[in-house]
Amino acid sequence: TRENGHGLRTPIVAVLGHVDHGKTSLLDKIRGSTVIEGEAGAITQHIGATAIPLDVVSKVAGSLIDPSDFDLPGLLFIDTPGHHSFTTLRSRGGALADIAILVVDVNDGFQPQTLEAINILKQSQTPFVVAANKIDTVPGWKPNEDAPVQQTKEAQSDRASSMLDEQLYEIIGELSDEGFSADMYWRVQDFRGNIGVVPVSAETGEGIPDLLTVLMGLAQRYMKEDMAIDVTGPGAGTVLEVKEEKGFGTTLDVVLYDGTIREDETIVVGGLDEPIVTDVRAILKPRPLAEIRTEDRFEKVEEIAAASGVKIAAPGLDDAMAGAPVRVVRDRDIEEVIAEVRAEL
Ligand code: GTP
Ligand code: MG
Repeated sequence: TRENGHGLRTPIVAVLGHVDHGKTSLLDKIRGSTVIEGEAGAITQHIGATAIPLDVVSKVAGSLIDPSDFDLPGLLFIDTPGHHSFTTLRSRGGALADIAILVVDVNDGFQPQTLEAINILKQSQTPFVVAANKIDTVPGWKPNEDAPVQQTKEAQSDRASSMLDEQLYEIIGELSDEGFSADMYWRVQDFRGNIGVVPVSAETGEGIPDLLTVLMGLAQRYMKEDMAIDVTGPGAGTVLEVKEEKGFGTTLDVVLYDGTIREDETIVVGGLDEPIVTDVRAILKPRPLAEIRTEDRFEKVEEIAAASGVKIAAPGLDDAMAGAPVRVVRDRDIEEVIAEVRAEL
């Protein structure tokens, strides 16, 4: 594609899990930011999107990844809220995902929204890995910043290491109760039939190289085997938020999950009463590694390809709704596209 220079569409990775289990922290660690500090009461209340380019993925994964093994342009991470009142946002995030990370606090194990997330993933048959987070809180744990997990685990006392094992087997048992065959990720051969559990710490970075490596492997296989990917057709996306933006009026934060969108193209957006038909005035792209929710410096681009988080400026968006579909008309019959958008509302 012209935007990312690769043949494969950027995979969308949803991050799901119970409140406070560390979803935003995990992404903060990977992107080297502190989005969590800007959140009211450190609770995520919106869906976020962050593009992580392949070179950053391979830098964080270090020796575990050989970037030449992958022809993916990177990963688009979707952060979701874990608080119980945000069920709709969780399913929306889950519905966008090609693959997912289920974040589970090793101290807390499975909680109500962990189960809710699992049901979302089951229903959409989304392949996922479990990030067993906060391993640095195991009593007696001696952190090795950013180390691969087996390496840091071997450096622990027998007591700390076996305490972690106990917590991990608890999680594996809970996955099994939900009908999933699961194991430590390094013992898993087929990640579609088995759930890999990756012990991590969003605080110390331990296990993050492993998590990214497993995700890239999963994404690469899944995208190749199962997806007829057209990154050049008319774009399709979902509205995350409707926002006032200085100099642009009402804009849409969108996750584009298919095709491309270009400046001046006619789009159809789900609105309060009726689908809105309008022309794209500007496509605003967050910087790589920036979270679209908190980004304040956007780059204006003429065209963007899936999957991306983008801000779209166009006239007449006041009645647009979060969660609504966005469709590029391009060479399609406009009435057909309007009917399609209406059917999704
Ligand atoms: P919601 O978005 O509200 O569902 O929460 P979340 O899953 O995004 O959790 P968040 O990243 O906001 O982290 C919750 C708390 O756990 C924060 O105080 C983090 O600093 C802490 N935390 C997250 N990961 C770790 C970890 O690996 N180790 C330790 N010690 N603390 C962590
Ligand atoms: Mg969060």
